[in-house]
Amino acid sequence: MRSEILTILHKAKGKYVSGTYLANKLSVSRTAIWKHICILKNDGYNIDSKSKNGYRIIDSPDLLTPGEINAVLTTKTFGRTIKYYKKIDSTNNEAKKIALDEKAPEGTIVISESQGDGRGRLSRGWYSPAQKGIWFSIILRPDFLPQEAPKCTLMAAVAIAKAIYTITGLKVGIKWPNDILYDGKKLVGILTEMNAEMDRINYIVIGMGINVNILSQDMPEEVKDIATSLMQITGKKISRLALLQQLLVELENLYTTIKKHGFSPIIQDWKKYSITLGKNIKVISVNETFYGKAVDIDNFGALLVDTGEKIERVLAGDVSIRPAK
Ligand code: BTN
Repeated sequence: MRSEILTILHKAKGKYVSGTYLANKLSVSRTAIWKHICILKNDGYNIDSKSKNGYRIIDSPDLLTPGEINAVLTTKTFGRTIKYYKKIDSTNNEAKKIALDEKAPEGTIVISESQGDGRGRLSRGWYSPAQKGIWFSIILRPDFLPQEAPKCTLMAAVAIAKAIYTITGLKVGIKWPNDILYDGKKLVGILTEMNAEMDRINYIVIGMGINVNILSQDMPEEVKDIATSLMQITGKKISRLALLQQLLVELENLYTTIKKHGFSPIIQDWKKYSITLGKNIKVISVNETFYGKAVDIDNFGALLVDTGEKIERVLAGDVSIRPAK
């Protein structure tokens, strides 16, 4: 209900909306509207109320509530269903639960202001302080084969790089498969998880963690030297809402492209942002660790590494870029 009230107030762009209009539109009493407005004010919304004119929104707190997102969203399906939390263990965990219900539509997002148990790849944690980043997961139900799922991570990385460029002007780099770096420091992490049968994907959940307005001194000691945030790089507070809206647009555009033309346009884009290709790297995969030069990625999103003896195809693993000798 509050999210609908916010959507209407935002659409009025600072003009008054009468209590009667809101009550009729949302099929509740004017008293109910007034009670919800009081709660919104308590949550930090600056809403002006005048007995003759009604309500108008003056300022919003920096929250990624459905009301805020709906007011700016221009996508068709991505982000049209939103599950919002102030605090949750992990948006990926929640999205996976929701996705088990086949009726949960593709493009549903789970977003939280903070995560108590944010998860990274390889059982690592993900620092997710309240209102300082974008911590969210999106549910996809693609009709391609399970072995093609890693491409979704590449798609998300390209979408994030594009959205960051549009909103901040920063050119970030993608380290295969899923890290977005700036000046060698990690800015974004992506965790893609899948539920599938042999020949059919039931769902894919792509979790994205974007460090937006975290100060260096607020970062945990163990990541301070290896991680950064958009605010640390630009020296400015960045609108999480604007970035999320742009990211949902980019994700939807790329996903539509994949459905129409396959993955190769995304792979071409990915190569433009790649900081892995052409570098000497160390690969830690499930069974072995080896060194080589990253020469290409194939149409499945696998990294091709020239070890000097052969070309290794790496589908999953951790890559570190070695300094040039
Ligand atoms: C990594 O780099 O290891 C991946 C980090 C992914 C973090 C995001 S934050 C939103 C979503 N929920 C989680 O628990 N993890 C992902």
